[in-house]
Amino acid sequence: MVYLPALHGYHGALSFGPGVKTTSRKSGVVRSGSRRRQGNLTMTSATLLDGKTRSAELAASITAGAAALLRDHNIKPGLAVVLIGADPASQVYVRNKARMAESCGFHSLQHTFAADTPQKEVLSLIDALNGDPAIHGILVQLPLPDHLDEQQVTQHIAPEKDVDGFHFQNIGKLAAGDTEHTFVPCTPAGCMLMIEDQHGKDLSGLRAVVIGRSNIVGKPMASLLLKANATVTICHSRTSDLPAVARTADILVAAVGRAEMVRGDWIKSGATVIDVGINRTEVIVNGETRSRLVGDVNFEEVSKVAGAITPVPGGVGPMTIIMLMSNTLKSARAIAAARQV
Ligand code: GUN
Repeated sequence: MVYLPALHGYHGALSFGPGVKTTSRKSGVVRSGSRRRQGNLTMTSATLLDGKTRSAELAASITAGAAALLRDHNIKPGLAVVLIGADPASQVYVRNKARMAESCGFHSLQHTFAADTPQKEVLSLIDALNGDPAIHGILVQLPLPDHLDEQQVTQHIAPEKDVDGFHFQNIGKLAAGDTEHTFVPCTPAGCMLMIEDQHGKDLSGLRAVVIGRSNIVGKPMASLLLKANATVTICHSRTSDLPAVARTADILVAAVGRAEMVRGDWIKSGATVIDVGINRTEVIVNGETRSRLVGDVNFEEVSKVAGAITPVPGGVGPMTIIMLMSNTLKSARAIAAARQV
């Protein structure tokens, strides 16, 4: 196994290194909210947390970081994205990831397998990528076809190339509060940046509620919030009186995969609401059935009560992709640092 030297900053490459820094912000990216009175109620129009603009800024910084790594160390960050099967949503995600890698100046590889590819073949591709010095990050798009063993696949990726942060070694470090020597899963890492934009890095005294306990989002999100000193509650399908728990949240992260489940009366006035859901629903417009993307949050209702909210699409989604680039650059920088020892 390759030795993983000290890495800095859980936002992958974004918080260290020449030419790359995280900007502390309250301007530009967000549209300011406003409050007005209607009868006895204070109506709020929430600040819109625009992931597209924010991720474009981060992309510029990552592109500059990649160029500097090439110039100073002759290393081009390399990302391999693996798709098994033909799930249309996964095809779009994988294509977007590969394109973003190219546009950041990375070496970008995409491997596509038929849905019935045997486990052994997938594992041997991962072996080859683990040993390929041009590849610093490996991502196998989930979900996998049913016959494949997801855990065996994700645990086969070398931890130092696990830019998804799904390897037990990386999960363990994050759970122990070590965000420097690991890769933080991309979606919660992107959510956390948006939360920091609103509240700063120290969330002392704030209550955070995460709805959803997945390994990809809910659990790592809770670890990050806890590390930032928030008081954290994780809710899931067996939680009783979910709306009442949600109403305690200064920061609410919804990651359940149920269209518009979170309603306006679940929200504490002024709360920051991060919507991780991407759900396709059908609406009828002028007698025609159209497909529409919605989050786990009922935007129309919640944006009247929340202080800040991410839209769907254009909120968490673009941040997730850019955090993957950040983790890949972080991995490539670690190789450069190891060479110098
Ligand atoms: N499917 C949905 N989200 C993710 C992710 O963050 N990583 C991978 N590999 N697959 C996903």
